[in-house]
Amino acid sequence: MRIAISPMIKIEKTKKTKIDKVDFNNLPFGQTYTDHMFVCDFENGKWQQPKIIPYQNISLDPSAKIFHYGQSVFEGMKAYKDEEGRSWLFRPLDNQKRINISAKRLAIPELPEEYFMEGLKELLRLDSDWIPTSQGSSLYIRPFVFASGNGFHASPADSYKFIIACSPSGAYFSGKLKVLIEENYSRAANGGVGYAKAGGNYAGQFYPTQLAVDKGYQQVIWTDDHTHEYIEEAGAMNIFIRIGDTLLTAPISDRILDGITRKSVIAIAEDEGIKVEVRKITVNEVVEAAKNGTLKEMFGAGTAAVISPIDEFGYRDNDFKLPVIENNYASRLKKRITDIQYNRAEDKFGWRYLVE
Ligand SMILES: Cc1ncc(COP(=O)(O)O)c(C=O)c1O
Repeated sequence: MRIAISPMIKIEKTKKTKIDKVDFNNLPFGQTYTDHMFVCDFENGKWQQPKIIPYQNISLDPSAKIFHYGQSVFEGMKAYKDEEGRSWLFRPLDNQKRINISAKRLAIPELPEEYFMEGLKELLRLDSDWIPTSQGSSLYIRPFVFASGNGFHASPADSYKFIIACSPSGAYFSGKLKVLIEENYSRAANGGVGYAKAGGNYAGQFYPTQLAVDKGYQQVIWTDDHTHEYIEEAGAMNIFIRIGDTLLTAPISDRILDGITRKSVIAIAEDEGIKVEVRKITVNEVVEAAKNGTLKEMFGAGTAAVISPIDEFGYRDNDFKLPVIENNYASRLKKRITDIQYNRAEDKFGWRYLVE
């Protein structure tokens, strides 16, 4: 075991890499993990010395509060390799800020920016060979924090674990996407935790999503919890709707995650001269637009798939097919974003971040 000390991170390298056992031509999303992980514990009222150690199981007391009270938040981001073999991140400081926004809402102590960024960069330097190079593939990065402190008492824990784990992932392709506009269950409510990337937000989606899957849909489109008249989010993505030549997306609120892809899509669409309206979108106007032929595109936007075009949506007892449009916004915007991510194009927005 070699122990090295970088400015602040204690590094224990793996004795034997697992990389030769991985089939990089066949990478299911989020199922293979790299050689190392970043770990930092919050104990005695402060974050302790961060470490990078070989990827391994963790041991917790059965009374750890994560199991009982769901005190946990996470992030999802990616690292990309360019043709010269350099590694890049996309707007990583936005993920760093967002995990602290989520943490604060769940009464989890915030992690200092330099721990997150230095930990991430050091981990990517060590596991750089794990960033896949084939077309559309990338290294999915999962930073997360959870309550490791003990006690069957419904109160915040006194200790936490912050971990960054990485998973090489192939190009994301979901096949034809048929979604259901949901008007019984809700993902989030005013004053709740919908804007946080809290583990429980996802657990709460699984059952309604399974009901939709049983009816032949792949995903649920969430509407507002109060009236179910407004379209809000698509599963683990923000949603965009093109009516005529205008691109619509719902405004960020207590109930909607402030997606980094969403912000990027809005900026690039405006840069392309596309008219973008950030406003409340009614289910009625989308159904009407589908009926009168002005509904041109619907797509989800999120880190995993970048942009997922929706082929068909269901509302109450009717299904509506989206038209097939040449040179559509979804593929134009996806190309602009991925060209920046993979260092294939100029980055006039300053979003790309070199891992040196
Ligand atoms: C609920 C939800 N909305 C939207 C998004 C998209 O956010 P981002 O573009 O930052 O990945 C995600 C994924 O992180 C999500 O989980």
